[in-house]
Amino acid sequence: MSDALERFEKGLREVSEASAGAFTGRSTEQALRDENAKLVGPNGQLTQLMKLMRELPADRRKDLGQQANALKAEIQAAFEGALDRLARAAREAELTGPALDPTLPGRGVRRGRLHPLTRTIHQLVDVFVALGFDVEDAPEVDYASNCFGKLGFPPDHPATDMQDSFFVERPGGELDTVLRTHTTTVQIHQMLKRPPPMAVICPGAVYRRDDDATHSPMFAQIDGFAVDEGLTFAHLKGVLTAFVRRLFGDEVPVRFRPSYFPFVEPGGELDMGCVFCRPWEADAERTRACRVCKGTGWMEILGCGMIHPVVFEAVGIDPTRYTGFAFGMGIDRISMLRHGVSNIRLLYENDARFLARL
Ligand code: DAH
Repeated sequence: MSDALERFEKGLREVSEASAGAFTGRSTEQALRDENAKLVGPNGQLTQLMKLMRELPADRRKDLGQQANALKAEIQAAFEGALDRLARAAREAELTGPALDPTLPGRGVRRGRLHPLTRTIHQLVDVFVALGFDVEDAPEVDYASNCFGKLGFPPDHPATDMQDSFFVERPGGELDTVLRTHTTTVQIHQMLKRPPPMAVICPGAVYRRDDDATHSPMFAQIDGFAVDEGLTFAHLKGVLTAFVRRLFGDEVPVRFRPSYFPFVEPGGELDMGCVFCRPWEADAERTRACRVCKGTGWMEILGCGMIHPVVFEAVGIDPTRYTGFAFGMGIDRISMLRHGVSNIRLLYENDARFLARL
């Protein structure tokens, strides 16, 4: 009788004995798994024993192999049975135990709050209402002529490319309708509706074929304008300077730069001092390293200007009697600046974990 045969038969008896009571009296799943591993895990007793198979005399190999496999199956069945009993016992305890513990603290109800963009709109509206502006609405789907033509964009002029549009096909197949690309359309709607003087702001959604980290195809703008006899660029500067100071602080400097928009003349852009590196605090190093203003110390926040006479003509207001000023800005951008948000999509994805931090 070979040595291997002897060791194998002895080993089988030992595993069989060890497995007999292995799973009784274990009260956790982990304990059961540990016992199972000792027998049939990668380093288990039976697994080790099987490695001797090759050395067994050929005429006994089949028979002993079957015995070992039968033992393995028994262990497997005992293990599963024990797991099952444990699960049943736990369920039983749950069902027969106290039905409900009324002394447990309840789940808190989380308080909702306004979206950061909505809060920014409220703040902007508050500032302009305090300066005497009315809040008005204008349609989101509008005639292209209100969006472009009446605002001084020549037909098919490359300037319309500034605002790549979503056209809406009407039942007749005409392509004269767009999702408004700016809230500047409010000028046309209001001036056609009522006589000067007027001072109006209009916050709302606008749409453009634009999509990157700082542009979303739908975003929010606010436009404002005032029409009266004798309004000058000084009124525009006064109103916009007051606006920046109320929203961002009295210490923030502003500057006006010439720029082109078809509906204003002269037209400009308003920059304000970067509210991240605060260059007026004279830390030149901080400004040089500022990624928000790219080291310039200035941030562009809106377009503005004196209403172009062609706009007055388009709505039947006498440009020799009346003048007006206008401005428009992205609300998302103001909100991003106020909250230090770098990707516009974060404002529209409605991830409550992110929004709760603003
Ligand atoms: N509508 C312009 C835009 O979307 C912004 C703008 C510039 C509005 C100048 C104005 C203005 O009212 O006067 O880019």
